[in-house]
Amino acid sequence: MHKLVCSPHGQGPAVPRLEQAQRIPIKVGEFEFVVERTCDLDTLWDQLGQGEFGDDERIPYWAELWPAAVGMARWLCSHADALRGRAVLEAGCGLGLSAVTAATLGARMVCFDYEPEAVRHARRNLSVNGVEAAAVVMDWRRPSVAPGAFDLALGADILYEKRFVAPLAGLFAHALAPGGRVWLAEPEREVSNPAMYRFLDLGFSHRRLHFEKISLQGKNMGIHIIELTRKGV
Ligand SMILES: C[S@@+](CC[C@H](N)C(=O)[O-])C[C@H]1O[C@@H](n2cnc3c(N)ncnc32)[C@H](O)[C@@H]1O
Repeated sequence: MHKLVCSPHGQGPAVPRLEQAQRIPIKVGEFEFVVERTCDLDTLWDQLGQGEFGDDERIPYWAELWPAAVGMARWLCSHADALRGRAVLEAGCGLGLSAVTAATLGARMVCFDYEPEAVRHARRNLSVNGVEAAAVVMDWRRPSVAPGAFDLALGADILYEKRFVAPLAGLFAHALAPGGRVWLAEPEREVSNPAMYRFLDLGFSHRRLHFEKISLQGKNMGIHIIELTRKGV
């Protein structure tokens, strides 16, 4: 597919875009969602110089739809009762499929990503799928949500760096109401198991709830659904 480089509405740095928006149909339970994107990881990767990732190594993973997001969407569909009317926060939402699913199932949904372009895509995907939710730019290292405001936190494929565990534990401890829980959809990776033990040290118990193999656009991954709860809260 041909690629264009443009800056939408003349704002912000130029983002390499696909010539035509790509629409990815995703059937989850009884729902047929569409995930749209106007960028992809390969093109963003090719066009960004190493320096542009910064010390933080901000690799633009947000531009892909990951099998973990489909695993999370499926899990949410089979647990609609846990979502209806609940305040739910999604960390690292990328293109927004988990948020679309949770909002469709009646959650009062806030999703966030630290990449503004990811948040633009998530907003677009919420709208394309006819649901309302807040999608905001936020860094999980600096949470700016009200303390104890959420019943449930979600994250799909967000533990791919060891350094993410401590700030995520801090976010969940801050954002969840007493008795609140976290559902993570995580691919089988070497980094994920030690991450669970770090969560234990940081005051969370963990439980594997489900495992499923997901194939999506040439990516095949086994996805675990893991629940974290705060010890003694
Ligand atoms: C592998 S992608 C997964 C995206 C989406 N959840 C999915 O499964 O398709 C990881 C996401 O976490 C976001 N992310 C990484 N570090 C973050 C941080 N410090 N604060 C907020 N989002 C972050 C990335 O921008 C990216 O969208």
